[in-house]
Amino acid sequence: MNRALFLLSAALVLTSLGANAEARTLAQIKASGTLKIATEGAFPPFNYYEGKQLRGFEVDLGNAVAKSLNLKVEWTAQPFDGLLIGLNQNRYDVVLASHAITPERQKAVAFLNPHYCSAVNIVAKKGGPLTRTALAGKVVGTQIGTAQIPVLQAIPGIKSVRTYPNDQTILTALQAGRLDAWTSNGPVVAYMLKQTGLTGKIVIGEAISQERNAGAVAKGNTELRDALNGAIKKLQADGTYAKLSQKWFGQDIRCP
Ligand code: ARG
Repeated sequence: MNRALFLLSAALVLTSLGANAEARTLAQIKASGTLKIATEGAFPPFNYYEGKQLRGFEVDLGNAVAKSLNLKVEWTAQPFDGLLIGLNQNRYDVVLASHAITPERQKAVAFLNPHYCSAVNIVAKKGGPLTRTALAGKVVGTQIGTAQIPVLQAIPGIKSVRTYPNDQTILTALQAGRLDAWTSNGPVVAYMLKQTGLTGKIVIGEAISQERNAGAVAKGNTELRDALNGAIKKLQADGTYAKLSQKWFGQDIRCP
C-alpha cells in the first residue's frame, strides 16, 4: 500500500473510532443557537417521513428538548446503520433514533437516560412462527445495525438471520414470503401493521428482548449529555412527555 493510501485508511479508522473527532461542546452549541440532531426517518411512529416532513415521537421530543434549552434544531436523516459513526465524525451533536442501550454501543458513544422502554417482538404471517422455539429452521429478517442481530444469533436453531436496510423492506419481504419472521420494536410493528391494514393478517408474537432506548452523544461530551438529560427530565415532570407519548402511542411509554 502506498503512503498516501495508508494515511487515508488510518485516518478513516481513527474517524470511525471517534479518536480524532472534536464534538461540539454545550457552550459552542449554545453560541451557535442550533442543536444538530440526527435520526433515521424510517422507524414510525418514532421517526419517519410523512411526505417531505420528518415526524414522530422522537422528532417531537427532540424539538421540545431543544426548545427548553432555547435552541433551534437542525435535523439530519440518514440510514440507521451509519448514525453512530456519523456522531463520532462530529456531523451532528446528538442521535435520537431508538437505539437500545447495549454494552457494545457504550464502548463507542455516551447514551442519554432512556426516553422510552420497549420490547422487541417476533412477527409473522398468521399461522407462522411467533415464539423463539418456533423460529427453529426459519429465516428471520431484521434491520441492519440493530441490537436484535446478536439476540437472534443466540437463539438456537434459526436457519438464517437476514438483514435489511429498514423495517419497511422487511415487511415487504415477509408479505412476499421471502421471510418466515421479522423482529422489531413492538410499537413500530403495531403502527406499521395498522397503517398498511395488515393487522390480523400479520401477527405480533413473543418478545425476544426488552430494551431501554436512548439518545446518544459523543463519548466525553458530558455537559451536553447532562443538559439533554436535564431537559428530558423536565419534560417528563411537566407533562410534556406524557402528552407526546399519549399522542403517538395512546399510553405513557417511559421506562418504569
Ligand atoms: N431498538 C433497536 C436497536 O437499538 C432498533 C432501533 C432501530 N431504529 C431505527 N431508527 N430504525 O437496535
